[in-house]
Amino acid sequence: MRRAKLRPLLRETILSKDDLIMPVFVDENISSRQEIASMPGYFRIPINQVSDEIGRAMELGIKAFIFFGIPSYKDEIGTSAFDDDGVIQKALRNVKRDYEDAVLITDVCLCEYTSHGHCGVVKDGEILNDATLPILGKIAVSHAKAGADIIAPSGMMDGMVKAIRSALDENGFENTAIMSYSAKYASAFYGPFREAADSGFRFGDRKGYQMDIHNGDEALREVELDLKEGADIVMVKPALSYLDIIRRVKERFGVPVAAYNVSGEYSMVKAASKMGWLDEMDIAYEILVSIKRAGADLIITYHAKDIAEVL
Ligand code: PBG
Repeated sequence: MRRAKLRPLLRETILSKDDLIMPVFVDENISSRQEIASMPGYFRIPINQVSDEIGRAMELGIKAFIFFGIPSYKDEIGTSAFDDDGVIQKALRNVKRDYEDAVLITDVCLCEYTSHGHCGVVKDGEILNDATLPILGKIAVSHAKAGADIIAPSGMMDGMVKAIRSALDENGFENTAIMSYSAKYASAFYGPFREAADSGFRFGDRKGYQMDIHNGDEALREVELDLKEGADIVMVKPALSYLDIIRRVKERFGVPVAAYNVSGEYSMVKAASKMGWLDEMDIAYEILVSIKRAGADLIITYHAKDIAEVL
């Protein structure tokens, strides 16, 4: 088994372009692409250029995209998130028109749309879980109307999957799927994303609703709840420091599992390779293969386009 030509025959894990989901940051406030300082090589894109960006990625063989919006206005309850003429809604309609086959996934959360930057409605410094749920339902329906194929709630509110499933069904979107950020940790690896999506919080932290990094069993309970509420795909996030969680979720439930190779994981690779200490594409490939080997069926990654080129 030592000879190189035998290796491909014995390979257990094959990374494929079909596994990849590419994040897209759509910014309503800009007229040309803007590089994100903490994520070299990654850009915020104006609404009228999103379709072209999707087209280029599809040429490389990427089929699925997850959209994040940077809106033109923010308020206490995130009104711009469920505005039918909001940033995501406009972008989706453009992409749908030009690329009917693209799989469109939308991140559903309040943090990019609220003035305080938290993932739920806030009263007296507290996040109100239950008051947030109907708003998430409204956002999901508005995204589905604009063409979303999969809704991805990322706010870690209890009951969010059920609220979204009911709202979608009541409005005739029975076939819109839900990919829940089920086991999302309160991680320091999201730092660069918060610059990318302008979603940093103005006070406190997210430890009230995101998971404690010390816990594993809790992730299984979170996943179980989301599945009972109707999630079609469950997500573990971040990916690299949580490969054990990915594996446990896959083994326990045997359902489609997504993993989010988050912004901090991308930026670390970028920074080290910029210094000449690591080979960027070798590292990116090894990381993505590891995530798949751990049990992920789908990987959200900022390296999607680069890796698609290699594959
Ligand atoms: C929104 C959201 C976040 C990420 C995805 N959706 C940030 C957060 O929860 O603070 C992070 C993605 C990344 O770091 O790449 N709630």
